[in-house]
Amino acid sequence: MESFPIINLEKLNGEERGLTMEKIKDACENWGFFECVNHGIPHELLDRVEKMTKEHYKKCMEDRFKESIKNRGLDSVRSEVNDVDWESTFYLKHLPASNISLVPDLDDDYRTLMKEFAGKIEMLSEELLDLLCENLGLEKGYLKKVFYGSKSPTFGTKVSNYPPCPKPDLIKGLRAHTDAGGIILLFQDDKVSGLQLLKDGEWVDVPPVKHSIVVNLGDQLEVITNGKYKSVEHRVIAQTDGEGRMSIASFYNPGSDSVIFPAPELIGKENEKKDNYPKFVFEDYMKLYSAVKFQAKEPRFEAMKAMETTVANNVGPLATA
Ligand SMILES: [Fe+2]
Repeated sequence: MESFPIINLEKLNGEERGLTMEKIKDACENWGFFECVNHGIPHELLDRVEKMTKEHYKKCMEDRFKESIKNRGLDSVRSEVNDVDWESTFYLKHLPASNISLVPDLDDDYRTLMKEFAGKIEMLSEELLDLLCENLGLEKGYLKKVFYGSKSPTFGTKVSNYPPCPKPDLIKGLRAHTDAGGIILLFQDDKVSGLQLLKDGEWVDVPPVKHSIVVNLGDQLEVITNGKYKSVEHRVIAQTDGEGRMSIASFYNPGSDSVIFPAPELIGKENEKKDNYPKFVFEDYMKLYSAVKFQAKEPRFEAMKAMETTVANNVGPLATA
């Protein structure tokens, strides 16, 4: 099997630009995932984020996690657990409005640092969306515009730790799923692996690379690209020993009122599959997703398609009444 795509973004500024764009295109079409190095986010900033996130976990999260595991009897399970993930998490919202000052237990310097980190990730997300537009033959800014909706994209960060798990075969760190949103940028532990994606029916490790940012595509990009790019199933396998895995995933998603539909340029070409993807408001998709995150995405697309038909049918009689 080909090796996991690692893209050196610095090469976009030189004579290897064409080749690098090709690599990104291939990764989007065939993996739904790639890993960026030399992405412009200072390594020193990433080092501080990693250090403070691990310190915060030890100080504020670890005891709470162990307690909840014990209370739920998860430390001594004997059969597969399908409704729980072996992870400790908290969420930061950045757009449309930041909640960083309201999240409990964070030191002020950690809050300031995460704000700075989020700003850099937001910029990189937007740069990547424009690279995707270029590869797709869409006008520059098209994806950003769709994601903007009427006021802003939705942008947030999930900070996770996957502590050592005694039975990783019975409880997943994070159960398999595709991401609902747009483009996801992950700063992951450079020592402890565990993230896997499903490729051609096999689970493939996403290799830890120091100071890299892992990128993956969510369901919305699959819809907008009319299936040219796919959101890909992934999961986290917790390790049995060691320090545990840190994972900081930032989700650059459409705004709640963004209308999502296949880009007209990507449908209806001769010999190409006709528009099979639904048109919907992102907020409605998220309502559905929150109930069925760990199920296959195809029924979600079908359900949105059915909703679209229902709305169209209902509008008919009303419009003539
Ligand atoms: Fe995910």
